[in-house]
Amino acid sequence: MWTSSLLSLLATTAVAQYSAPSNNTLGPNADGKYEISSEGIRGLFIPYGASVTNLFIPGKGGVERDVVLGFDKALDYEGKDHPHFGGVPGRYANRIKNSTFVIDDVRYNVVPNENNNNDTLHGGPNGWDYRNFTIVAHTKDSITFSIVDPDGEMGFPGEVVSYVTYTMTPNTWKIKIVAMATTKKTPIMLTSHTYWNLDGFANPETPTALNHTFHLPYSGQRVGVDNILIPDGTILPNEKHSVNDFWSAPKQIGANLTAPESHGNCGFNCTGYDNCYLVNRAQNGPYDWHNSGPVATLASEWSGIKVDIYSDQEAFQMYSCIGQNGKTPIKSTQGVAGREAFVQQYGCVVMEVQDWIDAINQPEWQRESKHIFGPNSPTYTLEADYVFSTTK
Ligand SMILES: *[C@@H]1O[C@H](CO)[C@@H](O)[C@H](O)[C@H]1NC(C)=O
Ligand SMILES: *[C@@H]1O[C@H](CO)[C@@H](O)[C@H](O)[C@H]1NC(C)=O
Ligand SMILES: *[C@@H]1O[C@H](CO)[C@@H](O)[C@H](O)[C@H]1NC(C)=O
Ligand SMILES: *[C@@H]1O[C@H](CO)[C@@H](O)[C@H](O)[C@H]1NC(C)=O
Ligand SMILES: *[C@@H]1O[C@H](CO)[C@@H](O)[C@H](O)[C@H]1NC(C)=O
Ligand SMILES: *[C@@H]1O[C@H](CO)[C@@H](O)[C@H](O)[C@H]1NC(C)=O
Ligand SMILES: *[C@@H]1O[C@H](CO)[C@@H](O)[C@H](O)[C@H]1NC(C)=O
Repeated sequence: MWTSSLLSLLATTAVAQYSAPSNNTLGPNADGKYEISSEGIRGLFIPYGASVTNLFIPGKGGVERDVVLGFDKALDYEGKDHPHFGGVPGRYANRIKNSTFVIDDVRYNVVPNENNNNDTLHGGPNGWDYRNFTIVAHTKDSITFSIVDPDGEMGFPGEVVSYVTYTMTPNTWKIKIVAMATTKKTPIMLTSHTYWNLDGFANPETPTALNHTFHLPYSGQRVGVDNILIPDGTILPNEKHSVNDFWSAPKQIGANLTAPESHGNCGFNCTGYDNCYLVNRAQNGPYDWHNSGPVATLASEWSGIKVDIYSDQEAFQMYSCIGQNGKTPIKSTQGVAGREAFVQQYGCVVMEVQDWIDAINQPEWQRESKHIFGPNSPTYTLEADYVFSTTK
């Protein structure tokens, strides 16, 4: 929980090396992970990327499932294979076209790391989820991580200081991220990049998440992209019954996999989803995100686990794990005896609350106030509540 006095303390001490009174008497466990919990929910986290590594939710019959992807040990995250499991990509999540942007007529070039260096993904090769955050607070139901991202790192202008707080309340995982650009104007867009399999890979019928049911009630539109998933400036309609229609009714992630339109829907020769859906909630006037309904819902009939995601963010990226190829191991807390313990193609769903991707290169979208932050701007904030329920 952020109190206003804590926030103003952080704001005034941000430029100097911040040292909060820490209370780390609660962790880490033998695998280097830190636990927080509440009734019906238990999560493990690590400083590397401020990542969630495990999330245990009771399914049908009270059987606990670990519903997020990750690795068994904190140090496993530092390997070459870096799927951005459960971390906070920063300082600018998703893709930056041509690894460049302009602020106040000055062009900045950031370090490319994708598509033969044609663009920058998730803040570049040393983005935030390749770094250790600092734990600044830890109680039995909450943990706060911080990072100081220096001026010029990855080519971004100015220092950014960010705090990521995860809190558990009954059946709910709450995320609050704040970030302050302390010295210069710079782009900031953050998210939680969590991969989900609500069966904990224990469904004997399938190792995939294609039967998970997905709903985006506010998302009649999506961002148009080119062959390498870079926004081209267009906003496209998700026509009723089309493959991208998750708004008119919930449907399974795999419902339209064999429809011809699914091929190429997520870039060149890619069949499935890696799309940024807009969240249009303002048409009926001001709203409070806490009680304007979930922006997304994912559910598995097999495990009985459903997650409703509430957020203040105005877009939602969903990726159906097309790139998984049976090489990434699942955790020892997941899986079913007799089946290969690796993540298969379509084995998961990534869900990211965020803003309209690459808006820094689409000035006509007029979202500058949500993407460019400086010493005189309001603090960047992101909030999301993941509320779990279970069918009998
Ligand atoms: C730190 O944690 C210990 C053990 O949980 C607790 O007794 C103590 O009150 C905590 N101190 C602060 C400053 O929160
Ligand atoms: C990419 O950015 C560079 C400057 O960094 C510029 O010279 C080049 O024209 C840009 N290319 C495209 C296709 O926008
Ligand atoms: C990336 O840029 C190179 C030139 O630097 C070009 O040959 C290539 O086709 C581009 N696109 C992709 C997807 O690699
Ligand atoms: C993160 O911290 C761990 C544990 O102290 C250390 O072994 C590892 O090298 C650090 N990684 C980075 C990227 O700093
Ligand atoms: C997935 O769902 C479909 C349609 O509801 C059903 O026919 C099929 O048996 C399910 N498959 C698995 C592997 O659970
Ligand atoms: C997609 O699946 C839904 C649900 O089964 C169906 O109603 C719709 O017609 C399908 N759309 C396409 C393009 O196949
Ligand atoms: C398209 O994808 C398929 C299946 O992954 C692959 O076999 C094929 O070589 C790819 N085609 C091209 C042109 O990359």
